[in-house]
Amino acid sequence: IDILTFRRDLLSWYKENKRDLPWRQDQNPYRVWVSEVMLQQTKVDTVIPYFNRFMAKFPTVEALAQADEQEVLKEWEGLGYYSRARNLQNAVKEVATKYNGRVPDDAEELGVLKGVGPYTKGAILSIAYNQPEPAVDGNVMRVLSRVLKIESDITQQRTKKLFEAYVRKLIDPQDPSSFNQAVMELGALICTPKSPACLLCPVQAHCQAFVAGMEEQLPVKKKA
Ligand code: ADE
Repeated sequence: IDILTFRRDLLSWYKENKRDLPWRQDQNPYRVWVSEVMLQQTKVDTVIPYFNRFMAKFPTVEALAQADEQEVLKEWEGLGYYSRARNLQNAVKEVATKYNGRVPDDAEELGVLKGVGPYTKGAILSIAYNQPEPAVDGNVMRVLSRVLKIESDITQQRTKKLFEAYVRKLIDPQDPSSFNQAVMELGALICTPKSPACLLCPVQAHCQAFVAGMEEQLPVKKKA
């Protein structure tokens, strides 16, 4: 793969075609954090109204840290996986007290916060702080398994590590925030699980799965 033209083609497509989503209004790390936690098990269209209500009610780290837990859970009602909300508020309380309300821009400090795993950590560091860190979820693994024709089982933890290593090589050091969001956006709009829109894909010329006619066979997901 020619990394420089891959980046250029992906990023110029993203700039023209990205959805105007509420958490893309700015790079506020608290807003990025909340959005990424909500998006972990829930689709974008479902998350949008929840995110807007949540931000109206708890606009800052301080506001969420001081909120009553029941009020927080009430705003989460319908999103499910309520431990996400409890962990988020716990972590935000720690940020309020330990870091004076400033979300850390350091991988080690972020990684020990409640509920902040490698994905959320990488999303905050890259999207909010422009650090060249991977944020690998199922969408990213689908896109990159196809572009790079990687046939490893994506349910394996070591496969996720492999994808993180690839992202570190591919990511645009000039704009890590847009790069990671562009891969996610490509996965959502073009490189979909079923019937991907390869004919419209900005990186078709770079895609090893497309050449091999294998896009519908990737990623490989072994059942337990
Ligand atoms: N899915 C996970 N994170 C996302 C983001 N920042 N934008 C769109 N879809 C996403």
